[in-house]
Amino acid sequence: MEISALQKERAGYQPKLPKALQGAVKVQEGAPTQSVDNQEDIKKLFPNTYGMPLVEFVPADSANNAKINVGIILSGGQAPGGHNVISGLFDEVKKLNPENRLYGFLMGPGGLVDHNYIEITAENLQAYRNTGGFDMIGSGRTKLEKEEQFEKGLEIIRKLDIKAVVIIGGDDSNTNACVLAEYYAAKQYGVQVIGCPKTIDGDLKNDQIETSFGFDTATKTYSELIGNIERDCNSARKYWHFIKLMGRSASHIALECALQTQPNICLVSEEIEAKDQTLNDIVEYIAGVVAYRAEQGNNFGVVLIPEGLIEFIPAIGRLIQELNDLLAAHGADYLNLDKAAQREYILAHLSAENKATFETLPEGVARQLSLDRDPHGNVQVSLIETEKLISEMVAAKLDQWKKEGKYTGKFAPQHHFFGYEGRCAAPSNFDADYCYALGASAAQLIANGKTGYMSIVKNTTASADQWKAGGVPITMMMNMERRNGEMKPVIRKALVELDGAPFKTFAAQREKWAKETCYIYPGPIQYWGPSSVCDQTTKTLELEQAK
Ligand code: FBP
Repeated sequence: MEISALQKERAGYQPKLPKALQGAVKVQEGAPTQSVDNQEDIKKLFPNTYGMPLVEFVPADSANNAKINVGIILSGGQAPGGHNVISGLFDEVKKLNPENRLYGFLMGPGGLVDHNYIEITAENLQAYRNTGGFDMIGSGRTKLEKEEQFEKGLEIIRKLDIKAVVIIGGDDSNTNACVLAEYYAAKQYGVQVIGCPKTIDGDLKNDQIETSFGFDTATKTYSELIGNIERDCNSARKYWHFIKLMGRSASHIALECALQTQPNICLVSEEIEAKDQTLNDIVEYIAGVVAYRAEQGNNFGVVLIPEGLIEFIPAIGRLIQELNDLLAAHGADYLNLDKAAQREYILAHLSAENKATFETLPEGVARQLSLDRDPHGNVQVSLIETEKLISEMVAAKLDQWKKEGKYTGKFAPQHHFFGYEGRCAAPSNFDADYCYALGASAAQLIANGKTGYMSIVKNTTASADQWKAGGVPITMMMNMERRNGEMKPVIRKALVELDGAPFKTFAAQREKWAKETCYIYPGPIQYWGPSSVCDQTTKTLELEQAK
């Protein structure tokens, strides 16, 4: 494989480990835990993995030489640092016992079920250390939820004498990891399942998980690009840039990028929902800023839009809920019809209020909301061109204001979507270290006989040697939610908190950013150089941990 000059140099980077994981390790257990909500329901569904204690690793006098073969799965969207979780896990299982073996299941959870795997060796891992992407073993979105899948997986687990499976994924994949852990525990198969918090979206976090890996690198990558656009925009002074940012439902990515780059406008879906705003309210707000800046002679600006926005506009959110139920109960009746017939079927089955909302949406958006879901039942918001929808509506509003003599400027929009370009960037120092520590911590959870846990690393705003590694029972993060028309146990997703420090910091400054031009240009991620540049964490983490 031919590699770039950066990759060559970066391959030699030795990620830092928390002090407690540097030598022999033992487990320190905390008090028993409870789920975040619906305790009785979750306890009933997870009798073997509910209530376990939090664990932290501390230095020990003698080493545990556990004999453990491990399987690893990358699940869902790519996030920078996945290869370093593999490296951390590999190095730690080999440190425990050089005879231990690590197997990578290919193309996501489907690899376990279909018995597609490779053995990860020091040689084949070398080229992937500190690199972005999931291409070493690939990823996929197959949902592990059926007993037949668990039993199929067990066949290969037995064949390879695997003691534990590590599932690297977001909230949905870790929910499935927990179901699998419970199933194997109930059957007394002696197979452990450990999760690892991945997602650029930043929505898998709580009191125990400070951040999901990949968020740091992805937001730095997007912020570099946004900064470049801001500078271009402030040079030519003729365009309004509408930038949609990935992140699924939560607006963490958009908010973090706003804190790093200070654009003129950043929409935050969670705020829009809380204020019960309509699409028209959003459009009037943006048009108002455009008109104000035009009066100052500034016919330019930058708007950040979280990709999940549309789901959070309350009227559209209610429509999606009803469409989800319709899809779950009657999908088979209309999925195979032609486009026009599908639309007719849907309109005939919606309540009057939701039907009215559905009819106001452009056809492509309505179709996206009514039909396509990923295997976990999520609307595929990355595919909806919200940035164009909004800028077109802003243009129409400005035209109307022009006719009414309220606006005299020029409005020339440009559209961008930043998503995939951030998911496989070479991990920042933070993600490189954090992921390596998460992998090492997963190995220790296995060596210490744990199952149904997620690997965690805390105190991450301190230097890496001060980080604290351990595990959290996955059931602790669960509650019951309606999915595909049924109540299901799931890990609670973390949305932007409007009383949290990151949002409040943004809200306190946004009016100034809208009126003036206060852009910040973060530049590219740096891997070598002053620590103030190379080792900075995200603003979100810094503000949240400062509380
Ligand atoms: P997960 O980490 O939750 O799997 O999602 C990451 C993500 O990048 C989302 O931000 C985005 O909405 C989605 O994946 C896009 O999915 P896909 O890669 O299937 O197009």
